[in-house]
Amino acid sequence: MDNEKRLKIAIQKSGRLADVSLQLLENSGIHLSKSRDQLLCRAQNFPLDVFLVRDDDIPAFLATDVCQLGVLGQNVLREKQAVGNGQFGALKEELPLGYGRCRLSIAVPQDFAYSGLASLNGKTIATSYKGLLGAYLKAHDIDANIVTMQGAVEVAPRTHLADVICDLVSTGNTLTSNGLVERDVILRSEAVLVKNQIADSDIAKICDKLLSRIKAVQRAAKSRYIMLNSPIDSLAAIKAVLPGSQSPTVMPLQGRDDMVAVHAVCEEGVFWDTMEDLKANGANSILVVPIEKMLD
Ligand code: PRP
Ligand code: ZN
Repeated sequence: MDNEKRLKIAIQKSGRLADVSLQLLENSGIHLSKSRDQLLCRAQNFPLDVFLVRDDDIPAFLATDVCQLGVLGQNVLREKQAVGNGQFGALKEELPLGYGRCRLSIAVPQDFAYSGLASLNGKTIATSYKGLLGAYLKAHDIDANIVTMQGAVEVAPRTHLADVICDLVSTGNTLTSNGLVERDVILRSEAVLVKNQIADSDIAKICDKLLSRIKAVQRAAKSRYIMLNSPIDSLAAIKAVLPGSQSPTVMPLQGRDDMVAVHAVCEEGVFWDTMEDLKANGANSILVVPIEKMLD
């Protein structure tokens, strides 16, 4: 048995965030034993243990310090915070992860006469998000009844359990196939890395290291390395077109005194438009390649 300290992270066991969250750790250079049936995976090359749990349970894992980090949808965290009597108040959204995007919306049957939130006065709304919905209605001075359901919220109007619903929408297919129309967005959500107030300074250091790797992966994922040849005369114009690059490297091209090679890291997408602009400014041999890792 070794006694090294290990950071513990909670990740959704199955569902929308599960695979991509594990992939994010893999991309950060962390090798996990692959077994999905177990609750706990140990990283082999980093002091990290991964707990695979239901996303609903992750805030409690963090609040009780079973885990110090968790990946979950903002919708889940904020709902727990809305109903949690301060129990989850210290959990901090540390880093948005850019996946698992959805919105929590009010949706009504096609024949429901909706002319703004006031149409909900006196109506019954089915939802699994009574905390967020309740706070939203209160903030907008709407007096409606909330019926809490754990799932299959979208069938509530058809079965006359409720007049309208408040549920997560991603593609919108579930609403459409149940004859419902999205009317008002309460919350826009994506997956976030959530942290508790880590007391142990060694664990805090491990956490910082993991966060810096994840940020580096995120930066690399949206950055591109671009190489091109430019007429010396149009160098300034070409630099101006390169998206989100700081100081490009400019190198001589053997046998050419009118052209130089330009290499740059672009921290934004390089689209066809940009490449066409570069070409219009006299660039040629334009190459755009992905970046696997970057660290300042
Ligand atoms: C969510 C939500 C909707 C559906 C919306 O359910 O409750 O049913 O996704 O997605 P769409 O707009 O792409 O159709 P989820 O699949 O997460 O399962 P659950 O309702 O059982 O929690
Ligand atoms: Zn659903």
